[in-house]
Amino acid sequence: KIYPVILSGGSGSRLWPLSRAALPKQLLPLITEHTMLQETVLRVADWEEIAAPLIVCGNDHRFLVAEQLRQIDVTPTAILLEAEGRNTAPAVAVAAHYLRARDPDALMLVLPADHLILDTDAFHHAVLRAANALGPDSLATFGIVPTSAETGYGYIRRGAAIDGSCRSFAVEQFVEKPDRETAERFIADERYSWNSGMFLFRADTYLAELERLQPEMAACSKAAVDDAYGDLSFCRLNEAAYAACPAQSIDFAVMEHTRHAIVIPVDIGWSDVGSWSALSEMQDGNAEENVLQGDVYTDNVHNSLIRAESRFVAVIGMENIVVVETKDAVLIVNKDQVQRVKNVVDFLKQKK
Ligand code: GDD
Ligand code: MG
Repeated sequence: KIYPVILSGGSGSRLWPLSRAALPKQLLPLITEHTMLQETVLRVADWEEIAAPLIVCGNDHRFLVAEQLRQIDVTPTAILLEAEGRNTAPAVAVAAHYLRARDPDALMLVLPADHLILDTDAFHHAVLRAANALGPDSLATFGIVPTSAETGYGYIRRGAAIDGSCRSFAVEQFVEKPDRETAERFIADERYSWNSGMFLFRADTYLAELERLQPEMAACSKAAVDDAYGDLSFCRLNEAAYAACPAQSIDFAVMEHTRHAIVIPVDIGWSDVGSWSALSEMQDGNAEENVLQGDVYTDNVHNSLIRAESRFVAVIGMENIVVVETKDAVLIVNKDQVQRVKNVVDFLKQKK
């Protein structure tokens, strides 16, 4: 069986002021009437090959997560609770320990809770293709055709085709978050794709690789699950053991070093909705290429995203901007500088 392992621990600070620590972007309805978490769960619901999802999230979000699953009628395999996030490598590790103890042959489909995938059928086929290409030792990644020298992504250079199929490849090199110059070199070379941040592997394969590459993390994450306490609905990871896990991403801790990675190139309408401009590009604009949400008035405005949550917003004579109004904060930013929104969150944290 394939278990979706849904990572729902991020804070999504680049979508401030909508996304907050108490209500991060994966728990918000950003694009449809469902939240990003619900969309992620629904995307893999009702597949024959797939078991009920396992969610890894922060303790503070447990009731929101449980309630959002209940709303869409999904009973999870488990909800693992982190007192404090330790980044993605430990989050995937505790899920792997939990699943392996219950199903020694468990396959994990690791999914970020905050991504958008427009073509669900193509995604489904890609997962099956990955499952078919998977050897006993392999760690599968899903590669996206890159469109810019984005430095916030992992880059994957494909090597030889597996089975001569040209639908899955060995990974020759994995570079997480390169600098601008390197990213530009990569996108000029058609062998490179972006790492989508989704993975497929056997739970025991991931743990074996972790023991080899990050033995301390492998041991601490095991203790966090062995000494977890919980009731029927939640499994609280042992706080001290989990806190002792080195806080590293799966990309830096495992994918950059393993020799067993494979890549499945996909064309699935993927976006990680990482910024306000990415969010507006994923939605159909009106005749002026504006995305307008809520009680909004515009005059001579082009290529902009205007979102009003609680008050009436009027914008006149502007282009290429994002305006987001909420009850207690308003953001106005040029679309070319939306990556800097996370600095506002840092600023506010310091001010406190
Ligand atoms: N449970 C839990 N705990 N989840 C976490 C934690 C944590 O401590 N930290 C992050 N997550 C979740 C986030 O909510 C997100 O859904 C996912 O894990 C990935 O984390 P990000 O912090 O968003 O990673 P990234 O965007 O910098 O980079 C990753 O994704 C890119 C594509 O979007 C990497 O895998 C890159 O290689 C990839 O290109
Ligand atoms: Mg991300």
